[in-house]
Amino acid sequence: MNAITDLARALKDAPAELSSSSLFGLPDQPAHERVLLASDEATGLKTILAVHSTARGPAFGGCRFWTYGNDQAALTDALRLAQGMSLKNALADLPFGGGKAVILKPAGDFDRAALFAAFGRAVQSLNGAYITAEDVGTTTADMRVVQQNTPFVSGIPRDGAFGGDPSPKTAWGVFVSIEAGVKLHLKRESLAGVRVALQGLGAVGWHLAEFLHMAGAKLVVADVDAAKVTRAQEKFGATAVGINEILSADVDVLAPCALGAVLNAQTVPQVRARLIAGAANNQLATVQDGDALHARGVMYLPDYLVNAGGIISVAREYRNEGEETAVMVEVTKIAERVAELLERVALSSGGTPARVADAWARSKLVRPVV
Ligand code: NAI
Repeated sequence: MNAITDLARALKDAPAELSSSSLFGLPDQPAHERVLLASDEATGLKTILAVHSTARGPAFGGCRFWTYGNDQAALTDALRLAQGMSLKNALADLPFGGGKAVILKPAGDFDRAALFAAFGRAVQSLNGAYITAEDVGTTTADMRVVQQNTPFVSGIPRDGAFGGDPSPKTAWGVFVSIEAGVKLHLKRESLAGVRVALQGLGAVGWHLAEFLHMAGAKLVVADVDAAKVTRAQEKFGATAVGINEILSADVDVLAPCALGAVLNAQTVPQVRARLIAGAANNQLATVQDGDALHARGVMYLPDYLVNAGGIISVAREYRNEGEETAVMVEVTKIAERVAELLERVALSSGGTPARVADAWARSKLVRPVV
C-alpha cells in the first residue's frame, strides 16, 4: 500500500469549490480531521478515506465504488459524504463520528476481491478511526472480503443473526419521514392517494416503493435502468416518466433516491412537489438551494435526517446489539425527529429546515454522555 503523498498533484486543476478553499476541507466548513489517499499498484486500488469528525466516537460511514470524472471529483465526494455522516450520526444519537470512503472504479478489467482486500488494508491502517460498510456500488460480499483484512467493517449478514444489507432499514426511515411530513406539512392523515415521485429504483428506492405502495400512495417513477421501471409499473401500477422529468413531476412528494446534488439552481425552480424526502445523500447542491425551496413553500427534509436507517442498522450490528425489532423501533424514531425539526423551524426566526437541521446536528458534534 503506497500512500499518495502528493496532495497537490491530486488536486491539480481542482474545481472552484476546492481550489477556492484550503486543502483541509470544504469551503466555509471546519477542516476534516484526517483524509487518507491510498493506492495499491498490484490491484489498481485508488481510494480516499475521509474522517470528518471523531468527536462522538470513531468515524462510521459506508464505502462508495464509483467511476469519477477525475480525482478531484472523488475527493469532493468523499469530503461531502464524510461531513454528511457526522451530521447523520449525531442527529441519530449514535456514538459515532462521521467518515466515508470512496474507491475510484478502475478502468478496464480488475480483480474485485483483490481490490477490496487492499481497501480493507487501507481501512486497517487507520486503526479504527474509520469504520466502513456498504454504500452505492458495494455489496455485502465486498464487505466480507474487507472483513478478512480489518475488523473495522459492518453490514455483513451472519447466520441467524440480524444485520447485513442496510438498504431496507434506510427505506423504512425514509418512509416514516414521508408519512410524518405528509401529516405535518401537507395536513393529510394517510398516504392513501398521495402522489410520490421516486427518482431511482435501486436498493433503497425499490424497498421504499414497496412501503409506499402498501400504504396506498400513487407512484411516479424514473430510473436509468428501464427494466426496473417496467417492474415498478407491473408490480405497483407506477406511472413512468423520463429521468429528466421526475424532479418536476406533478406530485405531492418528491423522493430522490439516486444521486447527490439533484436539487440545484436549475432544478429547484421546477419542483412541483410540496414535500421532499429521499435517501440520496447530499441532495442539495448548496445550502442556498435549500433557501430557494423554502421560499417556494417546499418542505425539504434533510437527507441526513431521514436516511439514517441504514447507519442505525449497521451501527447496531457493529456493536453486536443486533435485534430486528429493536432496530426497527430505533429507525421509526426518525419520524419523531422530523416532527421535532418542523417545530424547531417554526420556532426559529425564518430558519429553513436545511439550516436548522445543520445547526441542530452540529450542536451534537460532541462526545455523548453514556
Ligand atoms: P443503488 O445504486 O442501489 O440505486 C440507485 C438507483 O438510481 C439505481 O437503480 C440507478 O439505476 C438509479 N439512477 C442512477 N442515476 C439515475 C438518474 N439520473 N435518474 C434516475 N435513476 C438513476 O443505490 P442505493 O443503495 O439505493 O442508494 C440510493 C441513494 O441513497 C444513494 O445516494 C446513497 O448514497 C443513498 N443512501 C443509501 C443507503 C443505503 O442503505 N443503501 C443509506 C443512506 C443513503
